Amino acid sequence: MQKINVRDLQKMKDDNNKVSWLTCYDYSFASALNASELDLILVGDSGGMVNLGYKNTNPVTMDEMITLTSAVRRGAPDKFVIGDMPKGSYEVSAEKAIENAMRFSKESDCDAVKLEGGLHMVKQVKAISQSGIPVFGHIGLTPQSSNSFGGYRIVGRTKNEQEKILDDAKALEQAGVVAILIEATPDGIGSEIAKSVDVPIYGIGAGAEVDGQLLIFHDLLGIYPTFRPKFAPCLVSKVLPDFLESISEIEDMKEFGRATKKDGFWEITRLVANEFNRMVKSGEYPDSDHVYN
Ligand code: KIV
Repeated sequence: MQKINVRDLQKMKDDNNKVSWLTCYDYSFASALNASELDLILVGDSGGMVNLGYKNTNPVTMDEMITLTSAVRRGAPDKFVIGDMPKGSYEVSAEKAIENAMRFSKESDCDAVKLEGGLHMVKQVKAISQSGIPVFGHIGLTPQSSNSFGGYRIVGRTKNEQEKILDDAKALEQAGVVAILIEATPDGIGSEIAKSVDVPIYGIGAGAEVDGQLLIFHDLLGIYPTFRPKFAPCLVSKVLPDFLESISEIEDMKEFGRATKKDGFWEITRLVANEFNRMVKSGEYPDSDHVYN
């Protein structure tokens, strides 16, 4: 598969083709995603929680994000990889934002960066995108500033919040983002925004009518012990029957596994990513059980 670029993403929106993306934070999972049909990989600062065991994303540093993202890049050379700017790496000034985004891009070889915030981050987004690094916006629930909003919660239940999300999306588009991710909003709000701006609008827990879907890979695999949000299905049981069938007739399993990696968890993770990609593209995900009403 050819590596996707930002023009492809815009074309996919214009042609009404949904985009699938998952988070990833290490080399081995990345190599399974590289062999899957998934479109995009996000090295989220959620890696601070699921890989490093922090209780939220606040402590994550630029150095940690570069280590995680470089590992993913090595495992997934053929995928478009987005590096997540951690808290404190961009808010202070446009200069600091460019400096850290440039470092991120050079040291980890990510294809784009993502940062949280709308209207208040316009200067930073402009500065980074004008320096030649594609920027993904992130609005709705923004975990890095969740302390200011009373913790992780669904955003957009009131008219004021809905208007703010729309204003944020329009401001980010004007500032030059290549796409916007909306997190944890009631079904319907994403679709309103996807119709109101030209850049692709993707969702994580933001309903069905957006241009693509992101989930935390660890949720699909059911391996994060602490919490799984309502909108994230575990897909392991969906792929296991095919996996077991595919290995049931292999005679020399040891030899087969050594040669193909297809005898174990690497293959299961690849199948889960493919299943997620299929469900997103067909519109099967998210169904009514996996959206906020
Ligand atoms: O860090 C991350 O994985 C993210 C998603 C939750 C959107 O930013």
